[in-house]
Amino acid sequence: MSQFETFQHRHGMGSARTKVISVTSGKGGVGKTSIVSNMALSFAREGKRVLILDGDLGMANVDIMFGIRPERTIHDIVSGEASLAEVLVEVSKNITLIPGGSGVFDLQSLSVFQKQALLDQVSALGSQYDVMLIDTAPGIADNVLYLNSAAQHICVVVTPEPASITDSYALIKVLNQRYRETRFSIICNEVKDEADGQALFERLDSVARKFLYVSLDYLGSVPTDPVLRQATRQQQLVGKSHPEAASARAISKLAQGFKGYEPQVECKGSLQFFWEQLVGLA
Ligand SMILES: Nc1ncnc2c1ncn2[C@@H]1O[C@H](COP(=O)(O)OP(=O)(O)OP(=O)(O)O)[C@@H](O)[C@H]1O
Ligand SMILES: [Mg+2]
Repeated sequence: MSQFETFQHRHGMGSARTKVISVTSGKGGVGKTSIVSNMALSFAREGKRVLILDGDLGMANVDIMFGIRPERTIHDIVSGEASLAEVLVEVSKNITLIPGGSGVFDLQSLSVFQKQALLDQVSALGSQYDVMLIDTAPGIADNVLYLNSAAQHICVVVTPEPASITDSYALIKVLNQRYRETRFSIICNEVKDEADGQALFERLDSVARKFLYVSLDYLGSVPTDPVLRQATRQQQLVGKSHPEAASARAISKLAQGFKGYEPQVECKGSLQFFWEQLVGLA
């Protein structure tokens, strides 16, 4: 095996590569969990196997969106009471959830031996998932930045609210300055229509281009939709209860947007790489 092949092997970069996508935001309550959950549904409907990591302890967690109550979380891995496989919950056809919450960051406190054991379990998962979606907490806390920097694609959710725009800019700026991230996909949520979404993207993009060396891609937008809001209130996924709703269709389109993103040769992005970063072994 050449050095490169060994590297590819170690990082799970064979044919069975998992796309690792984080969905994040500067400001809270902008729609991350709604987007992650419905996007997962959309990928799953195409026959993709999806793994969701809930990296947030927000108001509406991913588990609630899918109407389940997980018995175990990553905390049980940290305390040595469960293996990764025991923490995984199938929340819908082709969708598996890792209930994480703040426990995600405690993984760094595992011993080297425990970390290696966990990574071996991740390795065993390797080829089972096509996509991993990470729902992060909002803001620029170290832990959030860290989770994003380990992902292959970073999607920043922004709404037309001025605070959301400035906080998105701040998040992109620190991810660039501290973690050398240069590419971000932007999702414009709670817009009036497509033109409104485009305009919002342009606003963020023009400031970023002026002051930062980053490249922003417009992944798409999701309109403000009372049907989505109502579904959330009833702890339902709009993509399940009302697949024809404007928001549900828009979120499906976002998922389609990843088709063009076939990764080139890159070390960042595999499931294995993500977990190595997460536990701090990389
Ligand atoms: N496109 C939309 N149209 C209408 N309501 C929306 C839309 N997107 C999100 N919401 C509503 O906004 C609220 C916040 O959404 P969500 O919980 O997905 O945001 P979040 O970014 O995950 O929040 P947090 O930062 O607290 O984790 C929810 O009540 C949700 O139903
Ligand atoms: Mg959330």
